[in-house]
Amino acid sequence: MTQLSLVGVSKIFGNAKVVDTVSITVEPGKVHVLLGENGAGKSTVIKMMSGIYQPDEGHIEIDGKQLVIPNVDAARKLGIAVIHQELNMVPGLSIMENLFLGDLPTKAGFVDRATMKRRARAALERIGLNEDVSTPMNALGVARQQMVEIAKALMQDASILILDEPTASLTRKECDQLFTIMDELKAKGVAMVFISHHLDEIARVGDVVTVLRDGKYVGTIPASSPESELVRMMVGRNIDNQYPRTAGKPGEVMLSVQGLTRHGAINDVSFDVKAGEVVGLAGLVGAGRTEVLRAIFGADTYDSGTIMVDGTVVPKGNIAKTIDAGVGLVPEDRRNQGLIMEASVAENLGLATMIPTSKAGFVDRVGQRRREQDTAKKLNIRMAGIDQRTGSLSGGNQQKIVFGKWSMAHVKVLLLDEPTRGVDVGARVEIYELINRVTAQGGAVVMASSDLPEVLGMSDRVLVMSNGHLSGAMPAAEATQEKVMSLAVSHMREADEPEMESVKESSNE
Ligand SMILES: Nc1ncnc2c1ncn2[C@@H]1O[C@H](COP(=O)(O)OP(=O)(O)OP(=O)(O)O)[C@@H](O)[C@H]1O
Ligand SMILES: [Mg+2]
Repeated sequence: MTQLSLVGVSKIFGNAKVVDTVSITVEPGKVHVLLGENGAGKSTVIKMMSGIYQPDEGHIEIDGKQLVIPNVDAARKLGIAVIHQELNMVPGLSIMENLFLGDLPTKAGFVDRATMKRRARAALERIGLNEDVSTPMNALGVARQQMVEIAKALMQDASILILDEPTASLTRKECDQLFTIMDELKAKGVAMVFISHHLDEIARVGDVVTVLRDGKYVGTIPASSPESELVRMMVGRNIDNQYPRTAGKPGEVMLSVQGLTRHGAINDVSFDVKAGEVVGLAGLVGAGRTEVLRAIFGADTYDSGTIMVDGTVVPKGNIAKTIDAGVGLVPEDRRNQGLIMEASVAENLGLATMIPTSKAGFVDRVGQRRREQDTAKKLNIRMAGIDQRTGSLSGGNQQKIVFGKWSMAHVKVLLLDEPTRGVDVGARVEIYELINRVTAQGGAVVMASSDLPEVLGMSDRVLVMSNGHLSGAMPAAEATQEKVMSLAVSHMREADEPEMESVKESSNE
């Protein structure tokens, strides 16, 4: 039974106080939720709890005793386990190797592989992840990688478990699994810190909520408090309409996908998206939504089928030509595919528009900078300035930049893969407004999302994928969570062993 307290801690980067005299006590057997907008300081707070950062002011207490947690190793020895917001796995290593990274079981000085295998299997089973432990991490999608992270933290049998947005990339079923595990840990007296931008999860798992705004402590209230109150504390105002979709009358077909097939991943998928339309793509993790978007964007090749943009066939597997044709993609894995972490905010925002906006062969630097500044402001990106290094922004603010990059480019077809993952409720509405702007300008949008309320609230039409097939389509007005879920599992029988294997092998994410 361990109690962890931060007492008046602050963290200063440069001349910004990103956490400002915050006090939090995490009790055994309780889930303490940290809530706040992107950049409010949540991850920074948990990094001080786990030995990554040292507080510049204030101190830490465990069971009432003041102490210093000098590094991650020390935190682990104190029984503190962390699931970080950004994935920390080594892509080239297997699931098992990642699970034991930094903590290999040895027998008489030798690595004990049999024990490793047994413990790794048990860890995956516990969270319901059905994968071979020798599968390389990079063969898994983001959601499954996240499940492995969770398994790894659980293996430590910690007395304090910190979860920084663990559910951001999980579907409902996987979230439920995690919440059940959290209930069990609670019963065992484990103290937990939980961060999420999904307000509905707070009442489900939380006991108390501490709200931060601009690094400052706003208050601590019961997790059962109404969502409207949480929102008001977090953003300082009410948000009346969470899904402000304004649909116009759709125009001509802008994107046409016919008979798209990639063996083992995509099975004869056909659909059209008209100018001004938002089509939502729903389905379970691994249903093939990401694969379809990547094939359209030219990031992956395919075996048969045709993709047309604005009436012209786009060559397969050619990103440059696809971008020229007017297609943009906001990928699910922003860290590896969407952004250059070492580059500035301005550079990342300008990536997609540098060439198209050049005048007579010259890059329009002044205009470009003004557009970058405008976009950053519209998206309300929290930063010191547009020259700040992208890698030092908070997770949600990085997501806004990927989005901003394409919204600046006036694309004909915008492909979104989990566009609001990790984005706070206020900024989410800002992203939805940008989607409205893209369609108002005649763009077509395809949005893959595991967030069903988002799919139902922001799409004009909903397509459902199940195990590589398009299993249904309906106007959003007629779609319900139940209808979508039953279509999402409709092709699951075929998923039994052999086909799932081939999905894994041919996936080159
Ligand atoms: N290493 C760093 N150098 C400079 N600034 C940093 C650094 N780490 C964090 N920051 C800044 O501190 C602020 C708080 O960041 P933090 O990651 O704690 O936010 P968060 O509440 O976790 O947000 P999100 O919901 O987006 O994950 C942000 O403005 C961020 O840009
Ligand atoms: Mg964070």
